[in-house]
Amino acid sequence: MLLPVYTRPALTIHRGEGCYLFDTNGRRYLDFISGVGVNALGHAHPRIVRAITNQAARVIHTSNLYHHDYQAPLARRLAAWSGLSHAFFSNSGAEAVETAIKAARAHGLRQHHGKVQLVALENSFHGRTCGALSVTGRPEYRRAFGPLLPEVRFIPANDIAALRAAVSEETAAILLEPIQGEGGVHVLEERFLREVRRLADAARALWIADETQCGLGRTGHYFAYQRFGGLIPDIVVTAKPLAAGLPIGATLFNETAATALPRGQHGSTFGGGPLVCRVALEVLDEVEQLLPHIRQTGAYLHRRLAELGTVRGEGMMAGIALEQPGEPIVARALEEGLMINCTHQTVLRFLPPYIATRAHVDEAMEVLERLLPVLAENGKSPYAIA
Ligand SMILES: Cc1ncc(COP(=O)(O)O)c(C=O)c1O
Repeated sequence: MLLPVYTRPALTIHRGEGCYLFDTNGRRYLDFISGVGVNALGHAHPRIVRAITNQAARVIHTSNLYHHDYQAPLARRLAAWSGLSHAFFSNSGAEAVETAIKAARAHGLRQHHGKVQLVALENSFHGRTCGALSVTGRPEYRRAFGPLLPEVRFIPANDIAALRAAVSEETAAILLEPIQGEGGVHVLEERFLREVRRLADAARALWIADETQCGLGRTGHYFAYQRFGGLIPDIVVTAKPLAAGLPIGATLFNETAATALPRGQHGSTFGGGPLVCRVALEVLDEVEQLLPHIRQTGAYLHRRLAELGTVRGEGMMAGIALEQPGEPIVARALEEGLMINCTHQTVLRFLPPYIATRAHVDEAMEVLERLLPVLAENGKSPYAIA
């Protein structure tokens, strides 16, 4: 038996091709959630299939006892993309967040009179492990697990007064998603992020940007913080699309933050193996070429979705807040051959593959337009934004 932590619809996925998935009955679905932001290059991408096949026949896993051909090049590539200097590889977003939290605590404890306080945002999501849950601003996810990490302060997103009140010399790190994903697709404002940078510097705290969902091209930029010139976090967390569906997480550090985790202070058996790192290098090549396409198609997606209501997000990341629960709409969309999901109860979320075209957007819109009468029947307006 499976642990019943998920609710799943009654279909079984059999295979995928490009932006489509097919179930065991051969039914086709337009995948506009892409494995929650993971399958950025769609399914069965020929370049990825070739790389996996070729590398699997050479060597899949080495552990971190030895160097291999791909880990250091991937670290260099991510450093060039992010403007940071060091990388540590793990296997998921939550693990990459754990790595960042450990670095922040070690940095605060060793270099700054034992401070461990973390400032995080309400409504945030950073993963399901105990450390990541400690900074996840959704009490309903934390409650069942008793005392987690101490000294975490949650403040509302984009509230500069609350930020100023929360950050002090006792702050070890400020941790946030530049665009909140699970929390309902909320974009952090430039002036808020600039104040985070300023206050982190003043308090000698680290700024950690969790770009697990919004990073690696999803907004049409390498990382979402780069939409605003001259802003660089001290630590960046990335994961989901990095290895096209193979499990990987990466925590990127600047020179100062990197000193927090010296030899022997962190590790992973699986993290950064040759198969995932080789595939990640191929993914980065592809994403690099796709950035202008993501910006253009993302803008089109937002324009079209705006016909239904107010849209939040950027690029290939979009959310529409309804006045009613979104799950029935998600279920109806699936019946009509469109995969999307609902987050924060009432927000329809769209995370299409980066390779999606205007034609795919139009196809998704046809389904959504057909569903509008369903919303109207329920006596609720779909046009409202929370
Ligand atoms: C911003 C953010 N951080 C961390 C995570 C956790 O990633 P994972 O599920 O790979 O552990 C997620 C997952 O949705 C996320 O959106």
